[in-house]
Amino acid sequence: MKHFISPADVTDIAQLVKEAAQLKANPYAFSDLGKNKTIGLLFFNSSLRTRLSTQKAATNLGMNVIVMNVDSDGWQLEMNDGVIMDGNKAEHIKEAAAVIGQYCDIIGVRAFAKLNNRKKDYQEMVMEKFRTYAGVPIVNLESATRHPCQSLTDLLTIQELKTVERPKIVLTWAPHVKALPQAVANSFAEWVNLTDYDFTIANPEGYNLAPEFVGNAKVTHNQNEAFANADFIYAKNWSSYEHYGEVLPGNKDWQITPEKMALTNNAKFMHCLPVRRGLVVADEVLDSLASVVIQQAGNRVWAAQAAIKRVLEELG
Ligand code: CP
Repeated sequence: MKHFISPADVTDIAQLVKEAAQLKANPYAFSDLGKNKTIGLLFFNSSLRTRLSTQKAATNLGMNVIVMNVDSDGWQLEMNDGVIMDGNKAEHIKEAAAVIGQYCDIIGVRAFAKLNNRKKDYQEMVMEKFRTYAGVPIVNLESATRHPCQSLTDLLTIQELKTVERPKIVLTWAPHVKALPQAVANSFAEWVNLTDYDFTIANPEGYNLAPEFVGNAKVTHNQNEAFANADFIYAKNWSSYEHYGEVLPGNKDWQITPEKMALTNNAKFMHCLPVRRGLVVADEVLDSLASVVIQQAGNRVWAAQAAIKRVLEELG
């Protein structure tokens, strides 16, 4: 695998999930694979899980790890070509990416959507500039529209917990006070659509995801109907794609509650975290045995390790 930016980079998703499970069972089986190789983890945005799990994953593979909060610790980066750099941006991405590529064998990048220009966000400029100019493989640690490390984790968690071959999975929008990117929801939909699971997306009107991510999933604006007989409830807030980046009024009643979970087939509750208690989900759900969010977050290590292992194998 040359890069790990989207599932288009992965030829066999089911096999990659299997490899993540194997690494969970035997974390140090490939502890020499990354010897004398360096991964740089670049964060334009905050992170707890992605930062720590990717660092641990790379360490398990024997790699050296450099972590940088690019936005606060580096020079402000110009992303556009052909501009006169007479503002506050001291360095162009062309040089910055190429220089980081001199120090690192693999570069992981986190750069969220800015949510003020849909076309720009969906062009994935930051990820594409790194892919173009770094000269080394790029791992997506959550970009404007995708979070593949999270989605691989989610498929591993579902694989571990499913009790039927073809579980019913519901991705449900949940309320939030801030405008959040669509990346986690997009990516979850994109990856689940590559399985044969029964998949429904429930969201209020005005919150439909981009058609290329919805794919063949069923879409409903009736949350209770979606929850009926579900085996997995995956909750996530996202801001509107249609009214781009907006938080539309209302919809507080989309919070995940014990009453809604009672409609399901004893469903497991999933969320990528961080999650706001009492807003996105009721404490009673998050603290219940149905909640698998900690197992899910733990699995971030094995998903990242499987992805980085594939990239290292291609590097040789
Ligand atoms: N789920 C996730 O990506 O968590 P962090 O934002 O803390 O990395």
